[in-house]
Amino acid sequence: MAGAPVSTPDYSEAVETALGKLDLEAKARLLAGQDMWSLPALPEIGLGSLVMSDGPIGVRGVRWTADDPSIALPSPTALAATWDPALARRAGTLLAQEARRKGVHVLLAPTVNLHRSPLGGRHFECYSEDPYLTGEIASGYVGGVQGGGVGTTVKHFVANDAETDRFTVDNVVAPRPLRELYLAPFEAIVENAHPWGIMAAYNQVNGVTMTEHRYLQNEVLRGEWGFDGFIVSDWMAARSTAGAILGGLDVAMPGPKTVYGEALAAAVRKGDVDEAVVDDAVRNVLRLAARVGILDGVDGAVTELPAAVDGQALAREVARRAFVLVRNERDVLPIDPARVRKVALIGAAARDARVLGGGSATVFPERVVSPLIGLTAALPEGALTYTVGADPSDELAPADQGFELRAVCRDGDGNVLGTGSLPGGQVQWIGDDLPAGVTHDALHSVEVTGTFTPRESGEHTFGTRGIGAYTLTVDGRLLWDGTQSMRDGADPFEAFFGAPAERGRAHLTEGVPVEVSLRHTVHRNADAPLTAVMFSLTHLGPRRDADELIAEAVEAARAAELAVVVVATTDRVESEGFDRRDLRLPGRQDDLVRAVAAANPRTVVVVNSGSPVELPWREDVAAVLLSWFPGQEGGAALAEVLLGHEEPGGRLPTTWPARLTDAPVTQVRPRDGQLPYEEGLFIGYRAYDRAGVAPAYPFGHGLGYTSWEYESLEATPTHAKVRVRNTGARAGRETIQVYLAPVADAVSRPRRWLAGFASVSAAPGDSAEVEIPLPRRAFEIWDESAGGWSFVPGQYEVRACHSLGDVRLSATLEV
Ligand code: BGC
Repeated sequence: MAGAPVSTPDYSEAVETALGKLDLEAKARLLAGQDMWSLPALPEIGLGSLVMSDGPIGVRGVRWTADDPSIALPSPTALAATWDPALARRAGTLLAQEARRKGVHVLLAPTVNLHRSPLGGRHFECYSEDPYLTGEIASGYVGGVQGGGVGTTVKHFVANDAETDRFTVDNVVAPRPLRELYLAPFEAIVENAHPWGIMAAYNQVNGVTMTEHRYLQNEVLRGEWGFDGFIVSDWMAARSTAGAILGGLDVAMPGPKTVYGEALAAAVRKGDVDEAVVDDAVRNVLRLAARVGILDGVDGAVTELPAAVDGQALAREVARRAFVLVRNERDVLPIDPARVRKVALIGAAARDARVLGGGSATVFPERVVSPLIGLTAALPEGALTYTVGADPSDELAPADQGFELRAVCRDGDGNVLGTGSLPGGQVQWIGDDLPAGVTHDALHSVEVTGTFTPRESGEHTFGTRGIGAYTLTVDGRLLWDGTQSMRDGADPFEAFFGAPAERGRAHLTEGVPVEVSLRHTVHRNADAPLTAVMFSLTHLGPRRDADELIAEAVEAARAAELAVVVVATTDRVESEGFDRRDLRLPGRQDDLVRAVAAANPRTVVVVNSGSPVELPWREDVAAVLLSWFPGQEGGAALAEVLLGHEEPGGRLPTTWPARLTDAPVTQVRPRDGQLPYEEGLFIGYRAYDRAGVAPAYPFGHGLGYTSWEYESLEATPTHAKVRVRNTGARAGRETIQVYLAPVADAVSRPRRWLAGFASVSAAPGDSAEVEIPLPRRAFEIWDESAGGWSFVPGQYEVRACHSLGDVRLSATLEV
C-alpha cells in the first residue's frame, strides 16, 4: 500500500535513558524552538538539533532565499488530481532526499485541511474536498517522506480551512462533520502511514484553541487513534504555557521567545504543571529524534535509503499526470503537427509562469520551465508566436525580472557590516540567518541596491512591502522617503502577506539599465517572538492599453491554426494569509479569451491556478486544460501533453463551480469571532447533490486521449471488482472511481460518496481488471448520541464511474 508505514524500532529504552539524564530546565528547553526552525541540541545526552522546514511542494530549508534552491513540485491540488497515492509516495521520497540534502529532519507537511470553500486562501495547498481522497493521497506522501528517514507534520490539526482571522477564529463544527469530514483525513493518515508529527492549528474549534485542545489532541489523536508522534504548534500558535502543555502540545515554535522553555520550567516549579506531563512531551520529542537518527546510540528508523530520485523528471511527471483536461471538442487536443503548423501562444503567465502558491509553501526552484520555454523547445522553429494578450497583475510584485540586486548592511554610523546576495527583491532574514559579518545588534539599515534593465519602455511603478522607514531612489531620482507602520489587526506575517504599497513611478527605456536603491531602517519590535528583517522592493511594469493588448493577441490567433491562451491567478489572489474575495480571473483575461476564441475556433485555454476560478467562456472554446500550479517543470509537461507525447492524467479532486454563488460555502469571514460550519456534512459534491446544482465540472471529471468501456462490475461488502477496456486508438490510463449511494436512507446522509478508486493502464483494445477495496468506514457514520462510529446496514448502489457525473456501471449490494 502506498501509505505503508516505516516500521519503527522500539526506542523506549534509549528514550528513557536520555530522559533520565535531563533536569527540568533542559527538558523545558528542548520543547521550545531555539530559533525559527530548530530545537536545541543537548550534547549531554547525545541529542542533535532537530531541524524542521516547509513543505509541502518542496523543502525550502532554513533559509528563505533563492540562494538555496529546491525542487518545486506541482501544488497539492495537482498531486491530488493524479488520484495516485503511489505517485504521491514517490513525491515524498524525493522530498525526503531534498530534506536530507538540506539538513532537515522534519518536513512541515502535508496540508490536509479540506476544500470547504473555494475562497480558502490555502485551497491550493490542500488536496481535496473529499476526506477519503485526501487521506489516501496524504498517506502515500507521508509514507514516502518517512520511508526516506525524514519526519512529517500533518497539518493543520484541525479545521484550518480558511485564512480570515486565522489566529483567533473559532470554527464551530458539530461532532458528525468534525469526525466524518475534517478529522477523517488525519485519522486515516495516522492509521495508514503512522506520521511522526502533527501540527496544531492556529484556530479554535468549538471554543478551545487548537494548541490547547485536550480533547482533540490527547483523547482523540493520541488516545483513540494511538498517535505516537510529536505535536508541534503552528508558528506562533502556542499562547499559554500550562494550557498548551496540559492540552497535549509537545513543542512550541518558533523560538527563542515561546511559552515553553524557562516559562514551562517555572510553571512546573510553581505547581501549575506536573513534571510528568513535561516528561511525556519530552519522550515524544526524543522518540522523534531517534526516528530521524539524531539520538546517539540508536539507529534512525530508516537505515537503508531509497534509490535516488531525479527531481526534475519527477516534477514533470507529476505535472502531466495532474493536468485535468475538462473539455476537448472535436479532439482539438492533442495537437496534430500535420495539420497545425503555426501556434499562437498568448498570456502573461505563458511567459512568467505561476508555478507555485504563496506563503509558507513558497520554495525557490533553480529553474522554471514556462509554457513559452516548453513549447518553444518542443515545436519546430518558427512554429510559435507569443503575445501577452492581458496582464493579470495590476499590483506590484517583488522585484524580479530584469533586476540584479544585492543587500548592503550598515551599522548606525553608516559603516558596511556585510553584503548579501539577493536574487529577488525580497529580504527575508529570520533569526540568525544574516549575511556574513552582520548581527542583529549592530544592524541599523539594509540597502537593496543594484540595477534594473526593463523589458519594456514606459512608466514603471516601484513600491515597498513591510513595516519600517524607507528611502527609494530610481535612476538617481528620489521616489519616496517615508515610514510604513503596522496596520491594526494585521497578520503577524504582514511582511509576507501584506499588500505592497506604491511609492513612485519612473519613465524607463527597454534594455537601458538604471540604478535602483531601497534603503530600509530596520524596524525593531521588542515584543516579536523572533528577530527578523523582512521587507521587499516591489515593481510593476508599464501598463499597456488593455484593448491594444487584446487586439494584438487576436491578430496572432488569426494568423495561426491553433491558439493556446494561458490564464492565471496572481500571488495577490492565491496565497496563505488571506482568503479570496471572488473566483474571477484577474484583469482582462476573460475578455481576452472571448476575443481569441471568436478569432480562432481552435482555441485551447490553459488555466494556471491552484484552485477553482470562474470560466464564463468555457463553452465557447475548443479545449480547457487545468494545469494547477504545475511546479518548476510545468511548461515542459505542458508541451508533452499538448503535443500528445503524454496523456493528461488528472481528474478533479474538487468540484469546479460555474460561479462562486453556486459553491456550497461562500462565507469564510467570522462574525463576532465565530465561523459556524452551518452546512454540516454538505461540502463539495455532497452539497451540489443536495442542492441539485450543476457545477461547471463535477468531482472526478477529466478526459484522456483514449476512451474506455466499463465491461463488468462485481461488488461485495469489502470490494468492487471492475473490468474496463481501452476502446480508443492509443494506450492510456483510467482512474476508476467507486461511489456508494444508499438506496433508501434511515439516517441523514449525502446522496453518494467516494468509497474507493484505482488506476489501470491498457494498450488499445486491451482490457484491465482491478479490485478496489471498500473500507468498512465507507458504510459508517459518526453517531453523535453514542459518541462512536455506527455501521449503517441496508441496500447500497455501488457505482463504477469515470467521474461523479459519469456513471458507467452499478450494482446493488446488501450489507
Ligand atoms: C503556516 C504553516 C507553516 C509555518 C512555518 C505558518 O504560518 O501556517 O503551515 O508550516 O508557518 O512556516
